[in-house]
Amino acid sequence: MNYPQELENWWLTEAGRHLQLRDPKTIAQRLAERAGKLSDAFTIDREERFTDCYADPLTVAAYGNYFFPQTYARTNFVISELLNFRHWTPPQDRPLRILDLGGGTGAALIAGVDLLSEKFPHCQFHTTLVDQSETALKLYRHLTRDQRKRHLFKSSAVRASLTESAHWNIREPQDLILVSFSLGEAFYQQEDSVVQAWLGQLLDKLTPNGLLVILEPALKETSERLERLRDFVVSESPRNWHIWGPCLHEKNCPLLAGKKHWCHEVRNWQIPPTINRINDRLRRSVWDLKFSFLALGKTPPPNATDINGDPRHVRLLTPVVSGHGKLLLSGCNANGEHAEYDILKRHLDKPQARQLETLKRGDIVTFNALEKLGGKNQYRLTDSGFSVR
Ligand SMILES: C[S@@+](CC[C@H](N)C(=O)[O-])C[C@H]1O[C@@H](n2cnc3c(N)ncnc32)[C@H](O)[C@@H]1O
Repeated sequence: MNYPQELENWWLTEAGRHLQLRDPKTIAQRLAERAGKLSDAFTIDREERFTDCYADPLTVAAYGNYFFPQTYARTNFVISELLNFRHWTPPQDRPLRILDLGGGTGAALIAGVDLLSEKFPHCQFHTTLVDQSETALKLYRHLTRDQRKRHLFKSSAVRASLTESAHWNIREPQDLILVSFSLGEAFYQQEDSVVQAWLGQLLDKLTPNGLLVILEPALKETSERLERLRDFVVSESPRNWHIWGPCLHEKNCPLLAGKKHWCHEVRNWQIPPTINRINDRLRRSVWDLKFSFLALGKTPPPNATDINGDPRHVRLLTPVVSGHGKLLLSGCNANGEHAEYDILKRHLDKPQARQLETLKRGDIVTFNALEKLGGKNQYRLTDSGFSVR
């Protein structure tokens, strides 16, 4: 995935206009301090309540240049997985309807439209972005107006709370609902039952084939909240929702029970130049994009029956460890187990070993054949075949 040059330019120009500067390097240096503060506010200082990313023009510029691209890329990863691994096929005989709740300046929504229009070039889009911040809505309107390509979709921006569906101004059910890094803010310190009730409100806002995608920071607290939400979903009766990701199964979350790991993704990406320049000063780890997510639909994914219950499919929970004569892989498998896999190196050629050794948290591996070992949830690969999503 490459972050679009026109978005990179737009945010850099916005920052330059505010700072009355033209040199990208100097602009980036001026944004670094604000980007650092925002980064802390999203992670380590969360308890002190959320910093308003639209508090002043410099903070907005830091947000747009440093975080907008990251959200864009994270959303791209998740929707790509839903399209390519889960085979989600949205309708193409009418405009696709996308709703972004707590959409801010539209990073997730624009990423969704870009990816879907690449995959389905004839698709048109009707989008709604809901946010409580008038500043964010104004910026989103400017951004979409300034970019000719983005005129292709009919978009509306609504000032409302994401917790109150009656105010979203949508008349028809949506094909995709995005909630990107806004759930934690909107439901800060609220009971799980409140989020569960809100999930109920979304049911009739989604088409039968539609998907709800929630992205959150990769922190233990935020990731476990999503794990609890997915456990609620699988225990519901009657069953309203099905899991499309990250889980490959619909049993209870083994990580939540184990309390040792929490489910999150770590993804490599092509870092845009402005982030690199800001980071020259900031020195944060931007090479890996970290996040957690939950994707739900009202029907199961098309490949659910092929995958569910089969431990050959596993999502990595840690990087692969290389030991004496073998590689060790740990993940959450399609049988709902936190399982370990050992892979004898003599079964692999060099490119295969290298491919496994470079896998990241969140990668999905399918092995051709396994045998069960004596320990709890331990498996061994019995032939060299595997594929990586
Ligand atoms: C961290 S920003 C994320 C923005 C955008 N979704 C993204 O991923 O780039 C959180 C957003 O949630 C919005 N927000 C927080 N609580 C909200 C609520 N109750 N209703 C609507 N928007 C809310 C904020 O105004 C802000 O735009």
